[in-house]
Amino acid sequence: MTHWWRHAAIYQIYVRSFADGNGDGTGDLAGVRSRLPYLRELGVDALWFNPWYTSPMADGGYDVADYRDIDPLFGSLAEAEQLITEAHGHGLRVLVDLVPNHCSDQHAWFRAALAAGPGAPERERFWFVPGRGGSGELPPNDWVSYFGGSAWTRVTEADGSAGPWYLHMFAPEQPDLNWEHPEVRAEFEDILRFWLDRGVDGFRIDVAHGLAKKPGLPDVGPDPDVTDLPYQDCDEVHDIYRSWRKILDSYDGDRTFVGEVWLPAAEQTARYLRPDELHSAFNFDFLCCPWDAAALRGVVDSTFAGHAPVGAPPTWVLSNHDTIRHVTRYGREDTSFDMGDKRLLDPSDPVLGRRRARAAALLTLSLPGGVYVYQGDELGLPEVQDLPDALIQDPTFERSGGVDRGRDGCRIPLPWQSGGPSLGFSPPGAKAPWLPQPADWAELSASAQEADPDSFLTLYRAALALRRERLTSLGETLTWVDAGRDTVCFDRGDAFRCLVNLGDPVALPPDARVLMASAELDEPGVLPRDTAVWLER
Ligand code: GLC
Repeated sequence: MTHWWRHAAIYQIYVRSFADGNGDGTGDLAGVRSRLPYLRELGVDALWFNPWYTSPMADGGYDVADYRDIDPLFGSLAEAEQLITEAHGHGLRVLVDLVPNHCSDQHAWFRAALAAGPGAPERERFWFVPGRGGSGELPPNDWVSYFGGSAWTRVTEADGSAGPWYLHMFAPEQPDLNWEHPEVRAEFEDILRFWLDRGVDGFRIDVAHGLAKKPGLPDVGPDPDVTDLPYQDCDEVHDIYRSWRKILDSYDGDRTFVGEVWLPAAEQTARYLRPDELHSAFNFDFLCCPWDAAALRGVVDSTFAGHAPVGAPPTWVLSNHDTIRHVTRYGREDTSFDMGDKRLLDPSDPVLGRRRARAAALLTLSLPGGVYVYQGDELGLPEVQDLPDALIQDPTFERSGGVDRGRDGCRIPLPWQSGGPSLGFSPPGAKAPWLPQPADWAELSASAQEADPDSFLTLYRAALALRRERLTSLGETLTWVDAGRDTVCFDRGDAFRCLVNLGDPVALPPDARVLMASAELDEPGVLPRDTAVWLER
């Protein structure tokens, strides 16, 4: 049996921005339920939902206050159960996002920890540590939060005195959990069971490399070795996944874990994908790769080389809710992405970006392994770079002193129709969407693209259908074909070839039939620049 997750096309739903069912301007489960037929017709195999749990939304739901309930903004637990059942009825599997590295500062455990006072056992589930300096006025170590600024915040005790500091690798509203504490481990095992009992087909593990911390929480120092940081990829983390894997495997169905493992070396990532740990991980090397043939071939090779020893399937992804939408990235002078870089207002050529994104879609959807489609990829949505400062909600904006524009630009509510105040995101008479949509998105709406044979949506639908019909049965390997320095070209099986041209026009093989092309071939037999074709040989 081939496991579905070895070759699945998984659609990422950022619930807040997908579709609004109740008219409050925020996406919700009712909105998703009403669009399930759209997702089925798109031709994906599964849905991954960004966190939908009770949350103050300090970080878009990655600050979870109750892992066993749905935020009222999105709906109710009963509705989530209904949604899971309905998705299954449409042949769509469901993955939920598990956020184990940290919880919300409004989670019952953290509130209890603060209330319990210095030295209380409730504080041991987190990292409460006395400060340095004469009166503890300096943070316990030099760790910097991924969102900027110190990773520590000092507690003010109930009597007004200054207390110890607590660790938060992200925003201060996201205290890190202490995974050395048995109650933390037991709690998450129970949360896994809670959702498995409700029929989910698996989990996306947030910050999967981050849960364990090096004993003693040592300083990073001025010139750290990025492959050996004390707050990521510590060996103890693998025990956690081994225990989770046993739980998952004790359930029926073919359920799966995908890890957000974001580490510098491919060998580090592969260790999370050993047969008794996670099943797959997002391929961030591919997501970050510039639009350059040699670089792309290199990443494909290193991905296969990294995954082979552990037998895990590769995955491919171009964009997600944390990155710059690739239509915009590919239209820039620097087409790479680096999570550590600040998101700036770099100019981008929209025509070029769209053309490359279409070619990249055919590349990504034809590589062996799993593939992720971020909501709006199929509509060719660009990054919205000019949100007014006052509307930006991503904590990275404030924490970087406004230098980093943050991630809201890839989280704009989807345009479903070409008219109306929210382009069909919300029902008539609703509140304005939580982030404004650019006016020219009317022409990018799903309904505007639906019947257009040249639209992004048509391209994605056709490619996903062909992928399902013909490609998933072609095995898990590819054979490189040398079609020129600026091409990415490979065969799968005897009859299928993908050819992507990033340079001057190249000739198509004379005996090949074009199954699909990302752009019109003006001259027969010639593949223009920034164009991909799927060929039948
Ligand atoms: C992951 C999520 C991101 C979130 C962070 C903290 O990187 O993808 O959106 O801000 O974890 O939970």
